[in-house]
Amino acid sequence: MFKRLKDNAPCWCKSGKCYGECHKEYDKKITELKNAKKKIPPRKIIKNEEQIQGIRESSKINIAVLDYVAEHIREGMTTEEINTLVHEKTIEMGGIPAPLNYEGFPKSVCTSIGSQVCHGIPSTEDVLENGDIINVDVSTIYNGYFSDSSRMFLIGEVHPEVKRLVEVTRECINVGLKQVIPWTPIGNVGAAINEFAMANGYSVVREIGGHGVGLEFHEDPYVSFVSKRDTGMIMAPGMVFTIEPMVNMGEPDIFIDADNDWTVYTDDGLPSAQWEVTVLVTEDGYEILTY
Ligand code: MF3
Ligand code: CO
Repeated sequence: MFKRLKDNAPCWCKSGKCYGECHKEYDKKITELKNAKKKIPPRKIIKNEEQIQGIRESSKINIAVLDYVAEHIREGMTTEEINTLVHEKTIEMGGIPAPLNYEGFPKSVCTSIGSQVCHGIPSTEDVLENGDIINVDVSTIYNGYFSDSSRMFLIGEVHPEVKRLVEVTRECINVGLKQVIPWTPIGNVGAAINEFAMANGYSVVREIGGHGVGLEFHEDPYVSFVSKRDTGMIMAPGMVFTIEPMVNMGEPDIFIDADNDWTVYTDDGLPSAQWEVTVLVTEDGYEILTY
């Protein structure tokens, strides 16, 4: 499948280095795995050092924006005000909010309260109340590079059972990260997360998952969080993707708001939580780019 490059030819990753000193060993490993019938990543999702540095810079803004939200979020605030915080902080730092006008999305951030699973649209009508949980999902473009992360925020006194959902979902990220081992299949990430969530009495949303990110907002691979072990694409060094499980207190079933075609809710009306990180696969493990 791969055209054989001469050792002294420029590497296909566009690092400017010669192939023999860049991705030659990588290709050997990939060929072995391909022969073993594993699903291997396309070259276009393998980032070079310059691209990784670009995604790191974008991630710094992404994190700073979420930190800024964390400082200001409070009871009585509307989700529209969160949108303003995200929009202005992103622009101030030289970035662009990726959600704005993305496939018609009307705002600069997704804000999902309570039984909203994801893709909540900021509004002047939605006021944060004591006991609410909210996911703020920030996606950033900087210098053409994309980063993506989300956090949960607890407003005032949150019911202990709901708080536990938020904490277990956060732990799901760590459980998933442990499975980010180069040259192993990505299905292990979702399998571990699903097992952990279920062991805690929760369910994981099946229809929506994570994604490759960096040069575009959404790239391959699709990252399921209900996957089976030893399935899916091999995680190769240079891949960047999100881990962003949506965990429901009750049943996994969801529906999409028919009025706006965006906001996803739990069918049973019970709360849902989500945390999201962008992760880089390295030679010996992973690097968290956003947290
Ligand atoms: N951050 C979301 C994701 O993880 C973005 C959803 S698309 C949007 O993919 F337009 F709603 F922002
Ligand atoms: Co995402």
